[in-house]
Amino acid sequence: MRTARNRHYLMCRPTYFDVVYSINPWMDPAKPVDTALAVTQWEQLRRVYEDLGHTVELIDPVDGLPDMVFAANGATVIDGRALVAKFRDAERVAEAPAYRDWLHTHGFADPRTAEVVNEGEGDYLLVGDLLLAGTGFRSDPRSHAEAQEFFGRPVISLTLVDPDYYHLDTALAVLDDETIAYYPPAFSPGSQAVLRRLFPEAVIATDADARVFGLNATSDGLNVVLPQGATDLAAQLRTRGFAPVGVDLSELLKAGGSVKCCTLELRSGS
Ligand code: ARG
Repeated sequence: MRTARNRHYLMCRPTYFDVVYSINPWMDPAKPVDTALAVTQWEQLRRVYEDLGHTVELIDPVDGLPDMVFAANGATVIDGRALVAKFRDAERVAEAPAYRDWLHTHGFADPRTAEVVNEGEGDYLLVGDLLLAGTGFRSDPRSHAEAQEFFGRPVISLTLVDPDYYHLDTALAVLDDETIAYYPPAFSPGSQAVLRRLFPEAVIATDADARVFGLNATSDGLNVVLPQGATDLAAQLRTRGFAPVGVDLSELLKAGGSVKCCTLELRSGS
């Protein structure tokens, strides 16, 4: 009964991927990173999307920006309009103009760069008409008002409380226009109550699913691409009529990112 809708994604090959600084608890610069393996794993993700019929566009990676592979953070794009990120950390600040330039030269007229810290789809997830917005670690809560004004969509503020789940897309996945999956302990009590109220039928992830970044997933309405270690979540998704597709992005997890982080959805005006 579930139907897939073709998606338009932007990705960035992890040519210069590395962990040389630490801006979240997953990043340990002392641990070795295999960049070639990261590229191979990322290519598999890209192939999964293409095999599912999605369009994948590529932005050129920039030497010296090891986190640029996490394209989700570059912007939020809805109705063909782009709100470009403003990163919290100095190490990532230069990614924003790169994403802005790409969007500008690829049909997104006049991308707007956020005025206050806003880490793009890392913290902004569209579910139907609602824009769920995370704060607590990265995006400034004032960016939620800025996004609501820019997109003219109701923004629901959610507060993250566990530093391991520092972006909204590490603790919540959008499965279709009405359905989400999330990990309640990552949210403040009030935000948990908001999520229960809005999404009483949500899929609830286990601790084990969350630890392997199972919620850092993308969905086309039917096929849910997620880290392969999230086996409880995959089973729950199957029960609900979704088709989970597991991928291994273990190298990228060393930077605190996985499937969704690598994927920026470009939503056209239609
Ligand atoms: N190392 C990156 C950072 O800390 C990972 C970003 C992950 N992206 C995401 N959408 N959650 O900013």
